[in-house]
Amino acid sequence: MFGGKPMPTTQDFIIKTLGECRFDSPLRRGGKRVFVADDRRIRLEDELGTDAAGSEVLSLEKAGPRERIFFDPPSTTVAVVTCGGLSPGLNNVIRSVYYDLAHNYHVKRVLGIREGFRGLNPDEGSPPVELDPAFVHDIHNLGGTVLGSSRGGQDPAVMVDFLQSEEIDVLLCVGGDGTQRGAHGIAEEIERRGLSKAVVGIPKTIDNDIPYVWMSFGYASAAEVAQQVVKGAHVEALGAPNGVGLVKVMGRNAGFIAAGAAVASQEANFVLVPEVPFPLEGDDGFLAALERRVTERGHAVVIAAEGAGQHLFEETGERDASGNVRHVDIGTFLRDRIKEHFEARGLELNLKYIDPSYVVRSCPANAWDRILSDRMARMAVHAGMAGKTDLLIGFHHQSLVHVPIGTAVAHTRQLDPNSDQWQAVLGCTGQPHW
Ligand code: F6P
Repeated sequence: MFGGKPMPTTQDFIIKTLGECRFDSPLRRGGKRVFVADDRRIRLEDELGTDAAGSEVLSLEKAGPRERIFFDPPSTTVAVVTCGGLSPGLNNVIRSVYYDLAHNYHVKRVLGIREGFRGLNPDEGSPPVELDPAFVHDIHNLGGTVLGSSRGGQDPAVMVDFLQSEEIDVLLCVGGDGTQRGAHGIAEEIERRGLSKAVVGIPKTIDNDIPYVWMSFGYASAAEVAQQVVKGAHVEALGAPNGVGLVKVMGRNAGFIAAGAAVASQEANFVLVPEVPFPLEGDDGFLAALERRVTERGHAVVIAAEGAGQHLFEETGERDASGNVRHVDIGTFLRDRIKEHFEARGLELNLKYIDPSYVVRSCPANAWDRILSDRMARMAVHAGMAGKTDLLIGFHHQSLVHVPIGTAVAHTRQLDPNSDQWQAVLGCTGQPHW
C-alpha cells in the first residue's frame, strides 16, 4: 500500500507526449549541461531497508529543459490560467511563465486567461490578456492573482473550442486538485480531437495536500502568517487569567498548515487536524485535557484546522463550486463548547477566538515560495514546449518531476500521524496521543 492506496505501477508514471520533438531548444548555452534527458528519473522510494517496497523500482520523470522541443517558439502561443482559492505565489508563477517564455524561449505570444476556467468559456468569462513586461512588471510583490480566479469547471469541449479559436498551443493550469482534474479533462478532449496541444498543471494549494508534491508553493508563506497569528494568540492567552487562544486555520482535508504553525511558533498546546480524530467529551477528551492544561498553567493555545473534528458531526451534504465537501465550522463550534464546558464547572475563562483563514492565504509570497513558484513555472514551460501533456509538476526528493495528472489526483495527501512531522507536534504541544 502507498499512503493507504493501492501501490502505483510503472504504468502510472508514464508521461504522454504530443509527438516527435523536431526543434532545437533555444536554451543552448555553449554546452549541453543545461538540458535534462528524457531518461533521467527520480526514484519514488529513496529508502533501502527490510520493509522497503517490492522488486519493481518505480520512478518519476525528471522535469527540466529538453534539448529538442516539440513547439517552434516563434509560432507558439502559451496561455496560463489560475484557478480555485488564492495562494501566495500565483503572481510569481504568472511572471516567471511570461519571462521564461519571452527571455529563454523567445515565444512572442503569451496569454493570461481571466477568472480561472471561466475565462476559457467565452459565454462566461472575460477575454484573455496578452502578457507583456508592463503587465507583469510588479505583480510578484502582490498577493492574490492579477488574472483573477474562480471555482468550478467548464465543459471541456467548450474550453478546447476556445483553445482552438485562440490558437493556444500550450495551456498551463495553476490550481489545486479540482483544477488539475479540470486540466485532465481538457487534455482528454484534446486527445479525442487529435490536436497537438499540451496541458501542463502547476500545483497550487496552501493546504499542501497534492500527492507527489512534497511542498506546494504558498504553503510556507501561509504557515508563516499562521504562526504569527498563533504567537499573537499566545500573547493574548497570557494576558488574562485562564486565557485561551483558539486559532482556526485552513486545511480542508489536511492539517499541514496547523502543524507547521504549531512547530514554527512552539506556542500551541493542542493541534486538531482532520487526520487525527479526537474525543471531545469524557476524561480522555479534548475539553477535559484543555481544562487540565488551563488549571495547571493558567493559559492555553489551541490550533484547529478547518477539517478537524468532522467526525463529531453529521455530514452537511453541501459542496462548493469545486465539488469540495463543505465542513461544519469547527472553530466556532469549539469556541462555544469550550465556553459551555468552563461555565458548567464554574471556572473562569478568557477565550479569544481568531480566524485568520483568508489573511493567511492572501499575503504575497515569502522568499522560499518566490523561488519555488519560479522553479515550478519554468519547469511547466519546459514540459509544455517539449510537447509533454496531461502532467503536473511534482516535487519529489528535492527534485522537480513530471507526474501524470490522473495519477496525482487519484488521492489526496494527508499528514501521516506516524510521521516525524506529527511527532514534532506532539513533542511541542504535549497534547494527548489520541
Ligand atoms: O485552497 C484550499 C483552501 O485553503 C481550503 O483549505 C479551504 O477550504 C478553501 O481553500 C477555502 O477557499 P474558498 O473560501 O475560496 O472556497
